Amino acid sequence: MKFHGKTVLITGATSGIGRETAKLFAQHGAAVIVTGRDDTRGKAVVAEVEELAPENAPARFVAADLNVADDVKRLIQQAGDVDVLVNNAGFWELAPTAQTTEAGLDAMFAVNVKAPFLLTAAFAPAMAGNGGGAIVNVSTMVADRGQAGMAGYGAAKAALESLTRSWAAEYGPQGVRVNAVALGPTMTPAMDPMADMLPTFVAAIPLGRAAQPIEIAHAIAYLSSDDSSFITGAIVPVDGGRQSVL
Ligand SMILES: NC(=O)c1ccc[n+]([C@@H]2O[C@H](COP(=O)([O-])OP(=O)(O)OC[C@H]3O[C@@H](n4cnc5c(N)ncnc54)[C@H](OP(=O)(O)O)[C@@H]3O)[C@@H](O)[C@H]2O)c1
Repeated sequence: MKFHGKTVLITGATSGIGRETAKLFAQHGAAVIVTGRDDTRGKAVVAEVEELAPENAPARFVAADLNVADDVKRLIQQAGDVDVLVNNAGFWELAPTAQTTEAGLDAMFAVNVKAPFLLTAAFAPAMAGNGGGAIVNVSTMVADRGQAGMAGYGAAKAALESLTRSWAAEYGPQGVRVNAVALGPTMTPAMDPMADMLPTFVAAIPLGRAAQPIEIAHAIAYLSSDDSSFITGAIVPVDGGRQSVL
């Protein structure tokens, strides 16, 4: 089992991509820490994970709002040592720049940038001290393509991609690899408000469809595992080919 004996913390694991990622890691032997704000969904994911892989060390849910710095600090304390960190939690507010609220902009940067920064600052040195580890950040193709209505979100994820490269340089010598996946449209609850735009998005994807969350989970698990032992600082498009075509 790829992750036997490893502890994996996945932010935003109460839904969508994070939930599928938690289940996949558990199927490969990991002890999974699920986090998000929603207690009911978080506990339901823990139950799913434990049913899938009852032989693993127990999964657990830690509730935390990553828009609240004290919650991030409490999450760090309650998680303890982790071998793999997946900075997956994120959200976008679809709004023209002039209609984006200051609170909304702050929240997009808090959840998509500041929380991964604080979590990495806490966990990467401990990973290094334990002989190495892996961090995977979840980004978007909007980080380096203009998308009207997503200026703040795209800027926040561009910052996360920049952090990915900086952390690869900083922690690589200590045995901690840091990579990102840059996603196209993926069929999760986050896409529901954009359902009417989906056909336009899909028309520009060479593979002709949006991703399923499990397809993203497989890429995250690969980048977290020793199978990708010489990959760090990479921003890997997992977008059906969208970024490679006009
Ligand atoms: N779906 C797509 O098409 C797509 C495309 C590109 C990139 N992405 C990225 O993929 C990642 C996962 O998104 P998804 O599509 O799986 O969306 P999702 O189903 O809406 O899940 C988002 C997750 O983030 C958590 N989250 C949001 N705000 C939070 C906060 N303030 N504090 C703690 N947790 C918070 C949510 O947990 P709670 O609700 O429990 O708080 C939930 O578990 C995000 O970073 C997103 O930007 C998605």
